[in-house]
Amino acid sequence: MENEIKNLETEFVKEIRTADTANIEALRIKYLGRKSSLGQLFARLPSLNKEEKGRYGSELNSLKGKMTNLINERIKSLGQKEESFDLTFPSADIERGSLHALRIVSKKICSIFERLGFTVIEGNEVEDEWHNFQALNIPLEHPSRDAFDTFYLDLAEKDKGKYLLRSHTSPSQIRVMQKNKPPLAVISPGRVYRPDVVDASHSFMFHQIEGFAVDTDINFSHLKGVLLYFAREFFSRDVDLRFRPHFFPFTEPSAEVDVSCIICSDQRQKCSVCKGKGWLEILGCGMIHPKVLAACGINPKKYRGFAFGMGVDRIAMLKYGIDDIRLFYENDLRFLEQF
Ligand code: PHE
Repeated sequence: MENEIKNLETEFVKEIRTADTANIEALRIKYLGRKSSLGQLFARLPSLNKEEKGRYGSELNSLKGKMTNLINERIKSLGQKEESFDLTFPSADIERGSLHALRIVSKKICSIFERLGFTVIEGNEVEDEWHNFQALNIPLEHPSRDAFDTFYLDLAEKDKGKYLLRSHTSPSQIRVMQKNKPPLAVISPGRVYRPDVVDASHSFMFHQIEGFAVDTDINFSHLKGVLLYFAREFFSRDVDLRFRPHFFPFTEPSAEVDVSCIICSDQRQKCSVCKGKGWLEILGCGMIHPKVLAACGINPKKYRGFAFGMGVDRIAMLKYGIDDIRLFYENDLRFLEQF
């Protein structure tokens, strides 16, 4: 009897430890029910002598009390666990990544031109001097090269000074025209690098989108029409464009293009964005210089083209009313999460 009581206790203690809500009731019946081993031991008491009856009777009673307590404790602790694990409780926020403001703007601009039949092509961020300068009619000694002459790759002696981080996306024109025959309508987004001192409106790295079209009958009014369509799709239906004569070595004639201020319409004098001028510069453009076509093996007597290059950062700043370009590059989630 003594061993049986001990074994029963050991077995029970082992089982109760791992009991869960689903089987705890079955466990109670198994160990405390009338047909349980404990019940059978109790049933044997009357056949024992007086002394044994007293001893085992009290042992069985204390085991019964112990089992009852342990079962009740287990039920209590299971209940508490379940309370603290509420399946209906809202989960912690999952941080989801999103596109960067510049990427959103760049994609939007490209998609407008894609609707007009332009194909998106990515150029090279590392360029050789010929693609970045000479092919674009920027001779070695040309003064307009100063603003561009920039980050050269630190290579072994034989390649020193040959490769640089492109200073504009215009070399994409060259790469496409060398490989493909007109008609062409291409848009090419990407990063560019300049030796600019960083301030609220300058960065040593920023983003441009180059666009150009070449065919036998392309003229300046195609350029104007395409850019006006873009501006009205991107900014708003009622913006206008202003073309100011300008100089670029790779286009002739050339122009800088302003969009009518999208911030102020009546309160012009006070506008901090256009400074009361009513116009915001957004891009450079022109008819592709015959020398550029010729450098790419395209006959300038037969073909003409237009080209334009716009600053994505600047356009994004205008679109979202951002007054400091550095915000794009500081990786502050409070800023980035707004887009
Ligand atoms: N590449 C010029 C720049 O970076 C922009 C431009 C592109 C101008 C194409 C005319 C034609 O300033």
